[in-house]
Amino acid sequence: MKTIINSLFFVQLFFCSCSQQENNSSNQMPEKHMPSSILDSHTLSNYKDVSIEHSHLNLSVDFESKLLYGSVTHSINNPNKDSIFILDTKYLSIESVSDQGENKLDFSYGKKDDLLGSPLLVSINTNTKKVTIKYSTTTQSEALDWLNAEQTAGKEFPFMYTQGQSIFTRSWIPIQDSPGLRISYSADITVPEGMLPVMSAANPQVKNKTNTYSFEMNQPIPPYLIALAVGNLEFKKIDNRTGVYAEPNMLESCVAEFVDMGKMVDAAEELYGEYDWERFDVIVLPPSFPFGGMENPRLTFATPTIIAGDRSLVSLIAHELAHSWSGNLVTNATWNDFWLNEGFTVYFERRIMEALYGKDYTEMLALLGYQDLQDELLTLDPKMQTLKLKMKGMHPDDAMSDIAYEKGYFFLRMIENNVGREAMDGFLKKYFSDHKFQTIVTEEFLAFLEANLIKGKRDSLKIDEWVYEPGLPDNCPVIDCKRFINVESAIDDFMLTNSIANLNTTEWSTHEWIHFVKNLPDSVSSNQMMLLDNAFNLSSSGNSEILAVWFERSIVSNYRTAFPFMKKFLVRVGRRKFLQPIYESLAKTEEHKSWAKEVYKEARSNYHYVSFNTIDEILK
Ligand code: BES
Ligand code: ZN
Repeated sequence: MKTIINSLFFVQLFFCSCSQQENNSSNQMPEKHMPSSILDSHTLSNYKDVSIEHSHLNLSVDFESKLLYGSVTHSINNPNKDSIFILDTKYLSIESVSDQGENKLDFSYGKKDDLLGSPLLVSINTNTKKVTIKYSTTTQSEALDWLNAEQTAGKEFPFMYTQGQSIFTRSWIPIQDSPGLRISYSADITVPEGMLPVMSAANPQVKNKTNTYSFEMNQPIPPYLIALAVGNLEFKKIDNRTGVYAEPNMLESCVAEFVDMGKMVDAAEELYGEYDWERFDVIVLPPSFPFGGMENPRLTFATPTIIAGDRSLVSLIAHELAHSWSGNLVTNATWNDFWLNEGFTVYFERRIMEALYGKDYTEMLALLGYQDLQDELLTLDPKMQTLKLKMKGMHPDDAMSDIAYEKGYFFLRMIENNVGREAMDGFLKKYFSDHKFQTIVTEEFLAFLEANLIKGKRDSLKIDEWVYEPGLPDNCPVIDCKRFINVESAIDDFMLTNSIANLNTTEWSTHEWIHFVKNLPDSVSSNQMMLLDNAFNLSSSGNSEILAVWFERSIVSNYRTAFPFMKKFLVRVGRRKFLQPIYESLAKTEEHKSWAKEVYKEARSNYHYVSFNTIDEILK
């Protein structure tokens, strides 16, 4: 390991570049006041001055030591002939840095930031075209999850995967880790015998004999979308451009669950223009995956908790597919603009769902989303209730609330209601095609919206209130969901009669069940929970979304019969969306909290950093 050089020159340069970082006071100004160069406050790199155009990874995957090691070579663009190239790193071990002629380049670290990591300062000159960094990850990497064989479906091979969004790529690749930058990449990945690596790139469909696999992602993408998973994976096609990767013993059930994937891509193209990424495949990961899905281009990463057996949770696939336009083609330039990724994606997701399964079905999803949003607004800090956020100094993942997703969705739906669907769709199509392979901030979007869709209506539609004020403006669309009205009368009847005799649930979908369980009043007794459980086996439901709301209810009613089932769920599943509300609810009473701590002792090693970091806070 090279010792750290700390030349005064480097240190000065570094602080100069930091002081150029985003001036927070500009975040909430209408576009006419925005500075022309928008800088991301979650990178310590100088990506606006010297920028990476292409990265080539050469990595070996070592399951013994749970490390990746090898090198990355960045091809750089240095128009102003700067003498320093600054990258983001966090918990990496850097061995050496050299240029295209294998000449060693001096490097040092800038001041470590607990949130953002340690900037790597590399001394370059006007001839430096490529910078190769030899490095390895460390066991502290926040991006990587290493699972031993027992934590997989097949129990025979270990498994590993990366999670880049939002600022984790820097903990497995030294890189300029900003969503405001786009780079193409290629990779050579060496894995142990019998295992298959896949990436957010053109992927192999079968194992080879050499154990080294080459990847290409020729389209420029933001660094948070570089992704790798390695396991005993097999591939099965669904149609010509869609298919599934999973462990062999899960493959058939995953393919059966996702049969409509090809139709989803067709419907999406019909709505907003051609699919630009050639293939759309999904990999189903082990249950520790901390998210429902992650839109890694060409290869969505998904939790196995959406394999319900009845295709009832596939809106998640529509969501990740929609990101192929909103997010991957047109990307939020900073994490303050995260709603541009997620709000558009929820809108697009529901349009795909409507095209495939009809309006009645989709309105259930929208109303469930609206209720989550209302719940969230009751407790969320008003500063976090605006679409445009000020995330400087905070972890960008904290922007992942129903504001970006559901308030973002209702904002777009409000505009649709006002201008009509035809105009809305024409506008969105143009938005995607005019901005493809670009990054965008909220103010640029608002200017585009005003110029192309809502001329002169910015005030009457309360656009600035939606974007810059907390809460929901009074022109928020109201959802009229017929299928839930029956569910609500079923709840009333059950509470009144204390009997399930009149509950006519045979036609209910997963979403009706979720609505039913979520809307049971807090006064439901443990005995009433038992009645429902005996009749409908809710504690052992095979549907993770129903289970999660049922367990939350069980905590409120102190329905202890459900607790052993809840424990099994908490130990097996690492999806933060489920874990967080359950642990939060358990943490409310001393008795439940000490039970939760016992469970967590067993469960924590099955969670990715994203999840255990959140749960550590709740149970501390
Ligand atoms: N891109 C997100 C996941 C994400 C957001 C990761 C922020 C890290 C930081 C992904 O598209 C997503 O939204 N996933 C949702 C599913 C969706 C159906 C709402 C999830 O994981 O719950
Ligand atoms: Zn999303």
